[in-house]
Amino acid sequence: MAATEHTQVKTIEEFAHQPEEYKDAVRKIVRSHAINELYGAQVFDEPAIALAPTPYAKWLTCRVAMEEYGHHVRFKELGEQIGVPEEQLVYRPGGAKRPLSIFDFPLKTWEEFCVTKLIGDLAEILQVEDLLHCTFHPLRNLARMTMPEERFHAQFGEDFCTDIIEKKAGRTAVQDAIDRIYPGLLGFFGAPGSKNNAIYRKWGIKIRTNEDMAADYAKRCAELCVGKLGLKLPKVDLPKARHA
Ligand SMILES: [Fe+2]
Ligand SMILES: [Fe+2]
Repeated sequence: MAATEHTQVKTIEEFAHQPEEYKDAVRKIVRSHAINELYGAQVFDEPAIALAPTPYAKWLTCRVAMEEYGHHVRFKELGEQIGVPEEQLVYRPGGAKRPLSIFDFPLKTWEEFCVTKLIGDLAEILQVEDLLHCTFHPLRNLARMTMPEERFHAQFGEDFCTDIIEKKAGRTAVQDAIDRIYPGLLGFFGAPGSKNNAIYRKWGIKIRTNEDMAADYAKRCAELCVGKLGLKLPKVDLPKARHA
């Protein structure tokens, strides 16, 4: 069904009158963004300020960290407006909600951070793109507001990686980080044939299947890392589409 054929939910008030399946689906997405934006900011962006090698790099990294915390704040606010309990919108060690496992590697170097922005934020851009035509307009508006900042983060990654790989040791460090970080990022798009994803598409909350998004992500990463930067991508088997 095309997005235009779905009922459009323009306000929080209209949201309250939607079927439970719709409300649950939207809450799941908002909750996941609120948690992952916060956790990412805590484990990557904020520590990266100390790793940044120059005042200029620190300044831009502060801006990235500020914006990632800002994304959490906006998603948390929306989550509260649509009835998600506060404890499900924040990450606390040992708490009810776990962030995605892609965040499970400890950030140690500036090069690793630049690679997380280069290809991690590209993964985030794809996720946000899928919400740009969402039937729940407050979430669609949030995606539209967030998008230019995510693009800035990915460009930040590309610009700094471009500088770093001019030197041989830098090229080796960036390649090594890509080899370790890229495979986990493909998992960011969820399992093929996911029931949740089918529900998101049924209600026009999202547009694409997990496997379509993972395939598009792999293609865009190859264009960027191999085509533009002259690096390599490790070979990873893409999740296969299952047709019922
Ligand atoms: Fe973000
Ligand atoms: Fe970002």
